[in-house]
Amino acid sequence: MTSKEIRHKFLDFFSGYDHKVVPSSSLIPVDDPTLLFTNAGMNQFKDVFLGKEKREYKRAASSQKCMRAGGKHNDLEIVGQTTRHQTFFEMLGNFSFGDYFKEEAIAYAWEFVTKTLGIPKDRLYATVYEKDDEAFEFWKKIDPALEGRVLRFGEKDNFWSMGDVGPCGPCSEIHYDQGEEYSCGPNCRGVECDCDRFSELWNLVFMQFNRDENGKMKPLPKPSVDTGAGLERFCAVMQGVHSNYDSDLLKPLVEKVVEISRKKYSPGQEGMPHRVIADHVRALSFCIADGGMPSNEGRGYVLRRILRRASYNGRLLDIHRPFMSELLNTLENIMADVYPELKEKRKTIESFLHAEEESFERTLDTGLELFEQVASKVEKSGQDVIPGEDAFKLYDTYGFPLDLTQIMASKRGMTVDVVRFGEELEKQRQRSKRSAVAETSPISFNLRPEAHVEVTKGTTFTGYREDFTETLVLSAAEDSVILERTPFYGESGGQVGDKGMIKGEDFEFEVTDTKKINGRIIHVGKIKKGEPKSIVGKKMRVEVDISRRNSIKRNHTATHLLHRALKKVLGEHVNQSGSLVAPDRLRFDFTHFKAVTSEELLAIEKEVNRKILENLPVRPESEVPFEEAKKKGAVALFGEKYTDRVRVVRIEAKDSTPENPRYYSQELCGGTHVNATGEIGQFRIVTESAIATGIRRIEAVAGLTAFELMDKERSLLNNLSRTFKAPTEEIESRVEKLLEEKKLLERELGKFKVGSYRAEAKELVDKAPFVEGTNSKVIAVKVEKENREELLSLADAVREALTSGVATLASEINGSLALVTIVTDDLIKKGIKAGEIIKEAAKAGGGSGGGKPHLAQAGVKDITKIEQVLEAAQKVGRSGCLNPTSPSK
Ligand code: ALA
Repeated sequence: MTSKEIRHKFLDFFSGYDHKVVPSSSLIPVDDPTLLFTNAGMNQFKDVFLGKEKREYKRAASSQKCMRAGGKHNDLEIVGQTTRHQTFFEMLGNFSFGDYFKEEAIAYAWEFVTKTLGIPKDRLYATVYEKDDEAFEFWKKIDPALEGRVLRFGEKDNFWSMGDVGPCGPCSEIHYDQGEEYSCGPNCRGVECDCDRFSELWNLVFMQFNRDENGKMKPLPKPSVDTGAGLERFCAVMQGVHSNYDSDLLKPLVEKVVEISRKKYSPGQEGMPHRVIADHVRALSFCIADGGMPSNEGRGYVLRRILRRASYNGRLLDIHRPFMSELLNTLENIMADVYPELKEKRKTIESFLHAEEESFERTLDTGLELFEQVASKVEKSGQDVIPGEDAFKLYDTYGFPLDLTQIMASKRGMTVDVVRFGEELEKQRQRSKRSAVAETSPISFNLRPEAHVEVTKGTTFTGYREDFTETLVLSAAEDSVILERTPFYGESGGQVGDKGMIKGEDFEFEVTDTKKINGRIIHVGKIKKGEPKSIVGKKMRVEVDISRRNSIKRNHTATHLLHRALKKVLGEHVNQSGSLVAPDRLRFDFTHFKAVTSEELLAIEKEVNRKILENLPVRPESEVPFEEAKKKGAVALFGEKYTDRVRVVRIEAKDSTPENPRYYSQELCGGTHVNATGEIGQFRIVTESAIATGIRRIEAVAGLTAFELMDKERSLLNNLSRTFKAPTEEIESRVEKLLEEKKLLERELGKFKVGSYRAEAKELVDKAPFVEGTNSKVIAVKVEKENREELLSLADAVREALTSGVATLASEINGSLALVTIVTDDLIKKGIKAGEIIKEAAKAGGGSGGGKPHLAQAGVKDITKIEQVLEAAQKVGRSGCLNPTSPSK
């Protein structure tokens, strides 16, 4: 049975039992700071279990993309070592939200496993939580074949929690016996053992509690069911193979690694790099397709670590180039028909993999060498711990994540001093903290945990239709107010929160920001008049600052136009990776792998302005089924949580007709927009820059701000025109002419200076007497020069004017003495060297110097030593001239 058939049969089976088949949610969780990656099928239903969110259905089933590479559920460390772990996998699951409970959950699972899949019963075991007699009895009742095969275990094995906080409950598992030959030996602990004999196929969680930050467990509103079965494990069983990596989901990838590396695969230890790479390329591709990006912190750093591990494992197979993209066709062949995002985001995936691999390749070999040196040294000294400083150097200079260094160390039977590593890391953090420019945050608002607890319902947002309204106050504090309905937009999807006023009889509250927290819209600000307590339950008039809101609308619609224009000009690989929509500017981050040229920027800006001039109608539509919106081509953005029904903001195309509607842009978006693009007025790009590998940022302005920018530029031009006394259109040629003139003048000045040096040099030479009995002169004088260049120019001129001789010039420059000594060619031939003379002279003043035989330079800090220096120069020069064959030392 193929993986496709199994996935299909599972969803069909549960659909037959009235379960709504729900698509997999993104691997990158939204709105859930407790999670690094989506780690279970139930994640997207968390709020439903907690009773905070309602769905139209009470039973659901899904095949969910999952990552277990961080947080509570983390298999990164053992990937490759076992036959049945991956960081990325698909979880098949069925869910009941307060509908059926233990008995049915067990019955469904048993029927699917034994009847639909036909797995032999004598290979199966069931486990229950030790105190769960109910589940124990249900299992025993369901099939006599399970007699003696229902086992009880403690919390570690049979109590499941999503994370340290969140929904949890006792669970019951189905295990498959691979056969005694896979057992780890006589001491095998059986079903409980971590060895390869027993494979956990399915986990049925009886969701009953919500664990809070203090570890307290509160009962959920309704007992529910959450189950999860690893598709890869089902595949291995159904395809009669022992390892997930031999199933049709992973084997072609392993084979491709063999082809690329020309290294045979073995199911044992030597095959580990193949397995790691096969797993990691899946994990990275799926995460990147869902908007993940390798980076230096948080989730991004997990991705970077996974990638670097893959690169390292490639090296172990002797692959010495970026190679991960070569696996993407194979991956697409296996999975793209179920997960089309692999194809849609192919370019982005490829670019990220390539850029990341390339950057690590640059330091990988040097890092490996350093590691070898360190490890050998440690070994020689009879120790087995890699010092934290070295691990830190590998991390900081060569980009080796700590866990990678730990893997390398463990291969040699060593460990890493992680405490010391941590200290080094902390030191570096402190250093960079000191040098970092403080980020200014306009408003810091920390909602106190106890504020507004009484409001459990979400707020109705009315701001798509109105800017002001009258409504009830549900809760009020000194710094925040919650209303029943509100036209104030709570910051989300990149759009900033609204400002405005809440007013009533004897009460005034100035709203300086609006936040959206757990579906509640919170007006943040300060009380101008009255008491917060007195207004709860009263009607208030609330007004959004309309002109500010209108500016935000312009920037928001402009952002959609920009997104479309970027795809048009740069290519469809462009995807939004972040945005800010404010009243006075917009910021748009997107995937693209090179700088955008000025021609491209101009083309983008022009495209947006053309669409503004076309005055295209903007038509938001709410409550569109998510799947339908996506099918019709609406762009879903990363980092957004989409429910079943979404709002689509469509900008009509020019040739759209009511009979045949066409759209220039369609985005899933909750923001506020203008009615037609013409209202934006004008759009101007201000800057374009890189913010991370493969991520560019455009900052732009729209509407009045664009006009103000233009106005500023105009007054700048007017000022320039006045300064240069030329009409604006002639400024450019005027500046060019001035630059030309400046060059000419500089040349003239240069000539003049040379002339003046010549004159000064001639005077110095003429004044100096011959050393008695010779044709040579020795000059040692103080001169006035601004800088070293001038001093050197004068020295050159002296050397030209002097027929035979030695000259040392000293000048006070920047508070110390600068010295230059020259020697004429005839004396050089006689063995006199400028370098040696200047050394002696400088020494007399406590300085040092040296140089070539014809010219040398030195410096003396103490300017009061000028006399001694010149005297020494004179003396050494003279003695050289008098005893030419034995130059002074
Ligand atoms: N949420 C449960 C698990 O992940 C089913 O094992």
